[in-house]
Amino acid sequence: MGFLTPNDIKSFKSLYTLQLRYLLCIETQIVKGLESMIAHASDTQLKQAFQSHQQETEGQVTRLKALIGEVNDGDVDDKKDVIITALIASGANIVSESEAGPVRDAGLIATAQKIEHYEIASYGAARSWAKVLGLSTHVEQLQKILDEEKHADHLLYTIADRANTEAFAG
Ligand SMILES: [Fe+2]
Repeated sequence: MGFLTPNDIKSFKSLYTLQLRYLLCIETQIVKGLESMIAHASDTQLKQAFQSHQQETEGQVTRLKALIGEVNDGDVDDKKDVIITALIASGANIVSESEAGPVRDAGLIATAQKIEHYEIASYGAARSWAKVLGLSTHVEQLQKILDEEKHADHLLYTIADRANTEAFAG
């Protein structure tokens, strides 16, 4: 049908490997995207949440590289993920169209949560596939990362509760 390049997905395992490579691209872009979000957030708690998740994300990059090496004959590379590029661009758009302060912060939280939900969906699929493939250490590692993403998302919900009210009050 011509929608897929012929080389990448030959089997369920190669589909799984591809997913890990997408995730590596996603996390690498998030490390950079968070740099900008840290710089443009005003709320102290939000800045700290972005900073600690950036450190966590750097660790996720390292773990993903190890997982990819194991299923890809030592060959560690990523695969361009256009969705995360668009999500990060939407955050940059909020920054360019707002002043620093609580309204911008509310927009940045929403963007960060969209990113978290995209990651949660992507890691959820990868973990399920690793389970079917019998890759138990991968299941364990991916579950740990999934828990980190869920925790980050939960923290953003908590911050949003307060920050949205502040944004409304002006
Ligand atoms: Fe992540």
